[in-house]
Amino acid sequence: MQPRTPLPVVVLISGNGSNLQALIDAQQAGKLPTDIRAVISNRADAYGLVRAEAAGIETAVLSHREFSDREQYDRQLITLIDRYQPGLVILAGFMRILSDHFVKHYLGRLINIHPSLLPAFRGLNTHERALASGVQRHGCSVHYVTPELDAGPVIVQASIPIVKGDTPATLAARVQIQEHRIYPLAAKWIAEGRVQMRDDGVYKDGVRQDFPPVLEPGQTLEGF
Ligand code: GRF
Repeated sequence: MQPRTPLPVVVLISGNGSNLQALIDAQQAGKLPTDIRAVISNRADAYGLVRAEAAGIETAVLSHREFSDREQYDRQLITLIDRYQPGLVILAGFMRILSDHFVKHYLGRLINIHPSLLPAFRGLNTHERALASGVQRHGCSVHYVTPELDAGPVIVQASIPIVKGDTPATLAARVQIQEHRIYPLAAKWIAEGRVQMRDDGVYKDGVRQDFPPVLEPGQTLEGF
Protein backbone atom coordinates (compact mmCIF):
# COMPACT_ATOMS: atom_id res chain seq x y z
CA MET A 1 0.00 0.00 0.00
CA GLN A 2 1.25 3.51 -0.82
CA PRO A 3 2.01 5.54 2.30
CA ARG A 4 -0.55 8.30 2.71
CA THR A 5 0.65 11.92 2.40
CA PRO A 6 0.80 13.45 5.89
CA LEU A 7 -2.21 15.61 6.68
CA PRO A 8 -1.30 19.34 6.87
CA VAL A 9 -2.21 20.67 10.31
CA VAL A 10 -2.23 24.04 12.09
CA VAL A 11 -2.39 24.06 15.90
CA LEU A 12 -3.80 27.01 17.85
CA ILE A 13 -2.67 27.59 21.44
CA SER A 14 -2.77 30.18 24.19
CA GLY A 15 -0.62 28.66 26.90
CA ASN A 16 1.52 25.77 28.09
CA GLY A 17 1.02 23.58 25.06
CA SER A 18 1.32 20.17 26.69
CA ASN A 19 -1.27 18.81 24.25
CA LEU A 20 0.69 20.37 21.40
CA GLN A 21 3.75 18.55 22.76
CA ALA A 22 1.88 15.24 22.75
CA LEU A 23 0.99 15.81 19.08
CA ILE A 24 4.56 16.78 18.19
CA ASP A 25 5.94 13.72 20.00
CA ALA A 26 3.53 11.38 18.25
CA GLN A 27 4.30 12.91 14.85
CA GLN A 28 8.05 12.71 15.43
CA ALA A 29 7.75 9.10 16.59
CA GLY A 30 6.08 8.23 13.29
CA LYS A 31 2.82 7.39 15.07
CA LEU A 32 0.82 10.31 13.70
CA PRO A 33 0.69 10.91 9.92
CA THR A 34 0.43 14.68 10.15
CA ASP A 35 2.56 17.61 9.03
CA ILE A 36 2.20 20.29 11.72
CA ARG A 37 2.95 23.27 9.51
CA ALA A 38 2.43 26.04 12.05
CA VAL A 39 1.57 26.79 15.65
CA ILE A 40 -0.34 30.02 16.15
CA SER A 41 -0.94 31.73 19.49
CA ASN A 42 -2.98 34.73 20.52
CA ARG A 43 -0.43 35.33 23.31
CA ALA A 44 3.25 36.05 22.73
CA ASP A 45 4.19 34.50 26.10
CA ALA A 46 2.58 31.10 25.44
CA TYR A 47 5.13 28.41 26.38
CA GLY A 48 3.79 26.25 23.58
CA LEU A 49 5.58 28.58 21.14
CA VAL A 50 8.90 27.52 22.69
CA ARG A 51 7.91 23.88 22.26
CA ALA A 52 7.05 24.47 18.59
CA GLU A 53 10.32 26.27 17.89
CA ALA A 54 12.27 23.48 19.59
CA ALA A 55 10.60 21.07 17.17
CA GLY A 56 11.43 23.27 14.17
CA ILE A 57 7.80 24.22 13.54
CA GLU A 58 6.88 27.68 12.25
CA THR A 59 5.18 29.91 14.80
CA ALA A 60 3.07 33.04 14.62
CA VAL A 61 1.45 35.30 17.17
CA LEU A 62 -1.77 37.15 16.45
CA SER A 63 -2.68 39.16 19.51
CA HIS A 64 -6.38 39.72 20.07
CA ARG A 65 -5.50 42.97 21.86
CA GLU A 66 -4.91 44.69 18.54
CA PHE A 67 -8.48 44.09 17.41
CA SER A 68 -11.56 45.85 18.65
CA ASP A 69 -13.98 43.07 17.74
CA ARG A 70 -14.05 39.31 17.51
CA GLU A 71 -15.15 39.15 13.86
CA GLN A 72 -12.15 41.20 12.71
CA TYR A 73 -9.72 39.13 14.77
CA ASP A 74 -11.16 35.87 13.50
CA ARG A 75 -11.02 37.04 9.88
CA GLN A 76 -7.35 37.89 10.27
CA LEU A 77 -6.74 34.55 11.98
CA ILE A 78 -8.39 32.73 9.06
CA THR A 79 -6.10 34.56 6.61
CA LEU A 80 -3.07 33.54 8.66
CA ILE A 81 -4.14 29.91 9.09
CA ASP A 82 -5.09 29.46 5.43
CA ARG A 83 -1.57 30.34 4.29
CA TYR A 84 -0.65 26.87 5.53
CA GLN A 85 -3.58 25.17 3.75
CA PRO A 86 -4.42 22.87 6.65
CA GLY A 87 -6.65 19.86 6.27
CA LEU A 88 -7.15 20.00 10.03
CA VAL A 89 -7.05 22.84 12.57
CA ILE A 90 -6.40 21.66 16.12
CA LEU A 91 -7.37 23.81 19.11
CA ALA A 92 -5.00 22.91 21.92
CA GLY A 93 -5.79 25.20 24.83
CA PHE A 94 -6.76 28.12 22.58
CA MET A 95 -8.62 30.24 25.12
CA ARG A 96 -10.89 32.19 22.86
CA ILE A 97 -14.53 31.91 21.88
CA LEU A 98 -14.65 31.55 18.12
CA SER A 99 -17.11 33.44 15.91
CA ASP A 100 -19.66 31.53 13.85
CA HIS A 101 -17.89 32.74 10.74
CA PHE A 102 -14.63 31.10 11.89
CA VAL A 103 -16.29 27.85 12.92
CA LYS A 104 -18.25 27.58 9.67
CA HIS A 105 -15.11 28.27 7.62
CA TYR A 106 -13.42 25.20 9.16
CA LEU A 107 -16.49 23.06 9.81
CA GLY A 108 -15.53 19.38 9.73
CA ARG A 109 -11.82 20.14 9.97
CA LEU A 110 -11.70 21.89 13.35
CA ILE A 111 -11.28 19.91 16.59
CA ASN A 112 -10.93 20.75 20.27
CA ILE A 113 -10.11 18.96 23.48
CA HIS A 114 -12.29 19.72 26.46
CA PRO A 115 -11.56 18.67 30.05
CA SER A 116 -14.84 16.91 30.88
CA LEU A 117 -16.93 13.99 29.77
CA LEU A 118 -19.15 15.96 27.41
CA PRO A 119 -22.04 16.72 27.37
CA ALA A 120 -21.33 17.18 31.11
CA PHE A 121 -19.64 20.42 32.15
CA ARG A 122 -19.39 22.50 29.02
CA GLY A 123 -17.51 25.77 29.51
CA LEU A 124 -14.92 26.69 32.13
CA ASN A 125 -13.86 25.37 35.57
CA THR A 126 -14.78 21.81 34.73
CA HIS A 127 -12.72 20.17 37.49
CA GLU A 128 -14.23 22.35 40.23
CA ARG A 129 -17.72 21.71 38.90
CA ALA A 130 -17.20 17.96 38.61
CA LEU A 131 -16.04 17.80 42.25
CA ALA A 132 -18.88 19.98 43.48
CA SER A 133 -21.49 17.92 41.65
CA GLY A 134 -20.49 14.64 43.32
CA VAL A 135 -20.05 12.65 40.10
CA GLN A 136 -17.81 9.61 40.40
CA ARG A 137 -16.18 9.83 37.01
CA HIS A 138 -14.60 12.69 35.11
CA GLY A 139 -12.38 12.91 32.06
CA CYS A 140 -11.86 14.60 28.72
CA SER A 141 -13.37 14.65 25.25
CA VAL A 142 -12.06 15.35 21.76
CA HIS A 143 -14.82 16.82 19.62
CA TYR A 144 -15.46 18.54 16.33
CA VAL A 145 -16.15 22.22 16.83
CA THR A 146 -19.58 23.54 15.84
CA PRO A 147 -21.02 27.01 16.49
CA GLU A 148 -22.49 26.04 19.88
CA LEU A 149 -19.73 26.07 22.53
CA ASP A 150 -18.44 22.60 23.50
CA ALA A 151 -21.46 20.98 21.87
CA GLY A 152 -19.96 19.48 18.69
CA PRO A 153 -19.98 15.73 18.07
CA VAL A 154 -17.50 13.78 20.20
CA ILE A 155 -14.81 11.65 18.57
CA VAL A 156 -13.29 9.96 21.62
CA GLN A 157 -13.27 10.33 25.39
CA ALA A 158 -11.12 9.17 28.29
CA SER A 159 -12.61 8.57 31.71
CA ILE A 160 -10.97 8.58 35.15
CA PRO A 161 -12.44 7.87 38.59
CA ILE A 162 -12.76 10.74 41.07
CA VAL A 163 -11.16 9.55 44.30
CA LYS A 164 -11.38 10.69 47.92
CA GLY A 165 -9.19 13.71 48.56
CA ASP A 166 -9.18 14.87 44.94
CA THR A 167 -8.83 18.61 44.40
CA PRO A 168 -9.27 20.53 41.14
CA ALA A 169 -5.48 20.38 40.75
CA THR A 170 -5.12 16.61 41.25
CA LEU A 171 -8.04 15.99 38.91
CA ALA A 172 -6.63 18.34 36.28
CA ALA A 173 -3.28 16.53 36.40
CA ARG A 174 -4.84 13.08 35.93
CA VAL A 175 -7.17 14.31 33.20
CA GLN A 176 -4.23 15.86 31.32
CA ILE A 177 -2.41 12.51 31.23
CA GLN A 178 -5.46 11.16 29.40
CA GLU A 179 -5.70 14.22 27.13
CA HIS A 180 -2.20 13.48 25.92
CA ARG A 181 -3.32 9.98 24.90
CA ILE A 182 -6.61 10.73 23.19
CA TYR A 183 -5.72 13.90 21.29
CA PRO A 184 -3.01 12.25 19.16
CA LEU A 185 -5.31 9.24 18.77
CA ALA A 186 -8.20 11.33 17.41
CA ALA A 187 -5.83 13.27 15.12
CA LYS A 188 -4.45 9.96 13.84
CA TRP A 189 -7.91 8.64 13.00
CA ILE A 190 -8.67 11.82 11.06
CA ALA A 191 -5.27 11.85 9.31
CA GLU A 192 -5.74 8.23 8.30
CA GLY A 193 -9.16 9.06 6.86
CA ARG A 194 -10.93 6.78 9.34
CA VAL A 195 -12.98 9.49 11.07
CA GLN A 196 -15.12 12.25 9.56
CA MET A 197 -17.82 14.62 10.73
CA ARG A 198 -21.03 14.46 8.70
CA ASP A 199 -24.37 16.25 9.16
CA ASP A 200 -25.62 13.64 11.62
CA GLY A 201 -22.49 13.08 13.68
CA VAL A 202 -19.11 11.40 13.72
CA TYR A 203 -18.40 8.48 11.40
CA LYS A 204 -15.62 6.03 12.15
CA ASP A 205 -14.66 3.45 9.56
CA GLY A 206 -17.85 4.37 7.67
CA VAL A 207 -20.20 3.77 10.61
CA ARG A 208 -21.98 6.49 12.55
CA GLN A 209 -20.90 6.51 16.19
CA ASP A 210 -23.97 6.61 18.43
CA PHE A 211 -21.62 6.87 21.39
CA PRO A 212 -17.93 7.78 21.30
CA PRO A 213 -15.36 5.21 22.40
CA VAL A 214 -14.25 5.82 26.02
CA LEU A 215 -10.71 4.96 27.06
CA GLU A 216 -10.02 3.93 30.64
CA PRO A 217 -6.71 4.63 32.43
CA GLY A 218 -4.23 1.87 31.74
CA GLN A 219 -6.20 0.65 28.74
CA THR A 220 -3.90 0.19 25.78
CA LEU A 221 -4.54 2.05 22.53
CA GLU A 222 -3.92 -1.10 20.50
CA GLY A 223 -6.92 -2.02 18.41
CA PHE A 224 -8.56 1.37 18.75
C1 GRF B 1 -6.26 21.43 28.43
O1 GRF B 1 -6.58 21.05 29.73
C2 GRF B 1 -7.46 21.32 27.54
O2 GRF B 1 -8.42 20.41 28.00
C3 GRF B 1 -8.05 22.69 27.55
O3 GRF B 1 -6.96 23.56 27.69
C4 GRF B 1 -5.89 22.90 28.33
C5 GRF B 1 -4.66 23.11 27.52
O4 GRF B 1 -3.51 22.62 28.15
N1 GRF B 1 -8.82 22.90 26.35
P1 GRF B 1 -2.12 22.62 27.38
O5 GRF B 1 -1.85 24.05 26.98
O6 GRF B 1 -2.25 21.71 26.19
O7 GRF B 1 -1.11 22.13 28.37
